Amino acid sequence: MDYDKAKEDDIELIRKDFPVTKKKIYMNCGSFAPTPLSTIKSITDFLVRCSEEGPDSTSVQEYITSLMNELRKILGRLINCEPEEIIFTQSTTEGLNHVASGIEWKKSDTIISRGGLHEHYANYFPWLNLSKKYGIKLEETKIDKNGFFDLDKIEKIAKNKNSRLITLSHVLYNNGAIMPVEEVGKIARKHGLLYSIDAAQSVGTIKVDVKKIGCDFLAFPGFKWLCGPPGIGVFYCKKESAPQLTPKYIGGESAIITEEKKLVYTDSPQKFQTGFRNYVGIAGLTSSLKYIQHVGIETIRKMNMKIANEMIEQLGTIPGVLMFGPEDEKLRSSIVSFGTDSVLPKVIVSRLEENGIIVAERDIVGGGKKKAVRASPHFFNTLDEVSTLVQNIKNIQNMFG
Ligand SMILES: Cc1ncc(COP(=O)(O)O)c(C=O)c1O
Repeated sequence: MDYDKAKEDDIELIRKDFPVTKKKIYMNCGSFAPTPLSTIKSITDFLVRCSEEGPDSTSVQEYITSLMNELRKILGRLINCEPEEIIFTQSTTEGLNHVASGIEWKKSDTIISRGGLHEHYANYFPWLNLSKKYGIKLEETKIDKNGFFDLDKIEKIAKNKNSRLITLSHVLYNNGAIMPVEEVGKIARKHGLLYSIDAAQSVGTIKVDVKKIGCDFLAFPGFKWLCGPPGIGVFYCKKESAPQLTPKYIGGESAIITEEKKLVYTDSPQKFQTGFRNYVGIAGLTSSLKYIQHVGIETIRKMNMKIANEMIEQLGTIPGVLMFGPEDEKLRSSIVSFGTDSVLPKVIVSRLEENGIIVAERDIVGGGKKKAVRASPHFFNTLDEVSTLVQNIKNIQNMFG
């Protein structure tokens, strides 16, 4: 589907697949996106099949294996990796913790991070924890008001013989800024450092290519921009980097006892996947990914940016409204963050919710020092919904400002 040529009918068809659009203006996909009806049906079909055939029958187990293989292939095409480099997790946080807890750290190691508290806590606390627990140095580079940093500064730290890993968010959760992940990847490779990416806010809304980024690890959820069900996430672990991680858990499937009575891990991805997985989530995410791929990531990007650009333009004309994040469209996602000089973000968020508009309040300066209203629209939102949101902001300002 090409959005530029798409008729309004196409949008209407998409909206029919997302029942929330009948009742509310939902712009909180950076937190938790709704699933399309086809995904709900796939989940139901999966559970009905388990119930009718017996969940641990050979036929259902074969079906589950084929579902996992299919999902790995789809995800491999989505982020440009091999299917066996895909590990199913619960969430982004779990994937990032595979890295933080899996590496055999030395006290002298340095981890390079961007702006500390300006990162989502999921991509800050695991590293901070290492520094507190083991005395590992966490180098937090300075950032500008939009979260960008000096690449030369990163390179200067990367050159240090103790530097071990660089961690970075692909898209910032609070202002939608797209980080220079490929440039940092070049620095990581040049100096032989491991490179871990938090892709919670990028996969499903912009193109993500792990080979171009040059990362060893990348984690994302199924339930944000991919519109999958909750409780399913993905951890990409480059084949060559997998031996550097020791799994936090061990049990059935992830290890074997050899004839010499040695306990050894199986190969990745099984190495990181002990016990039964969230098969319901796997069935649902497979269906959601088919939906997302049918629309197409490039089309989704165009649709989302049309909504975001309109919102930025309209909000920018309201006196007292402050916009956050980069102005250049190439440097931002469809996350739109703003505040006003007279009404607290949390008041705006709850007032909007009373009027059927769902957005979120997030830190725009780390550590809760400054908050913003964050709208994260997706491809099922419309320009009319943007106008309604903007009118509501004006009304709230008149009422409370
Ligand atoms: C950038 C970023 N990283 C990590 C997370 C945590 O995601 P999850 O719930 O999948 O662990 C979020 C959630 O909003 C996020 O925005």
